[in-house]
Amino acid sequence: MSETDRISPTAFATGHMWVRLGLSHPAMSTPRGVRLDRAFSLAIQPRRLLGGTGAFDTLMRARHTGIDCLLEQAIESGKLSQVIELAAGLSGRGWRMTQKFPDLTYIETDLPAMAELKHGMLDGTGLLSDRHQVRVVDALTDAGPESLAALIDTLDSSKGTAIITEGLMSYMDPDTAVTLWQRISGQLKRFPQGLYLSDGYVQSEVKSFSSTLIKTILQRFVKGGLYTHYSSAEDATQKLTSNGFARASLHAARDLPATRELGTKPGGSRVRVLEAWV
Ligand SMILES: C[S@@+](CC[C@H](N)C(=O)[O-])C[C@H]1O[C@@H](n2cnc3c(N)ncnc32)[C@H](O)[C@@H]1O
Repeated sequence: MSETDRISPTAFATGHMWVRLGLSHPAMSTPRGVRLDRAFSLAIQPRRLLGGTGAFDTLMRARHTGIDCLLEQAIESGKLSQVIELAAGLSGRGWRMTQKFPDLTYIETDLPAMAELKHGMLDGTGLLSDRHQVRVVDALTDAGPESLAALIDTLDSSKGTAIITEGLMSYMDPDTAVTLWQRISGQLKRFPQGLYLSDGYVQSEVKSFSSTLIKTILQRFVKGGLYTHYSSAEDATQKLTSNGFARASLHAARDLPATRELGTKPGGSRVRVLEAWV
């Protein structure tokens, strides 16, 4: 099974999860997503059976909202008006951001099958426009029609641009992660301002029993390894600045305005959000 084959089903589960958490449009929920989200959630947070909120929901909410928060700050400050989301899956961020910011261009990307599915879902509900598109990009390819470079050739190079990865890097081994950071920083340098946002985790903060349980179940679900790339926030800064970024911070969710409270709760306290500028 290739890296990409094993990761793709998780997009159905998160696609429904974002809808369930009130962070997405109902069009992004599929019957497969409902089944997978329920099976996975109940395996790791049986309290949900009793209607409670589990740590995994809190973690996911903090991760999604934390990335939103830094993206919105950058758009509101006037630094960015174009966003490329890699491996966007069935996330509702593109829909939410284009609703909120009328001058924003948002390009969601994924592998061909997922991009086609997402395109059909959004198009069917009239949610796509010139400013909000779904395109094919293989994040692991350096050249050719499905590369990030080929997509960027078609965009406005005068606009400050963000690239987002969410829920992708944990599936990448360290060497693949480095290659992807270099690819992203290299492409962001084609714009006047370039921001990379991603979820991230610190090794010592994901060693608890519940984190290990989530990791074990998720690894079984995706039939492969999961990686925590950073030993500390300083290590994250060092890794990103060694791979083409001018500055980088790995924010704790509790330090961001939108996730201050979530970041103090079980699950949310493990979430970090990477902000790296070229
Ligand atoms: C865990 S899902 C995350 C989806 C979305 N970002 C979210 O948070 O809901 C992972 C996504 O990565 C996509 N993916 C896997 N390998 C990829 C690659 N090489 N290039 C682009 N996308 C990829 C899958 O198709 C899937 O949609």
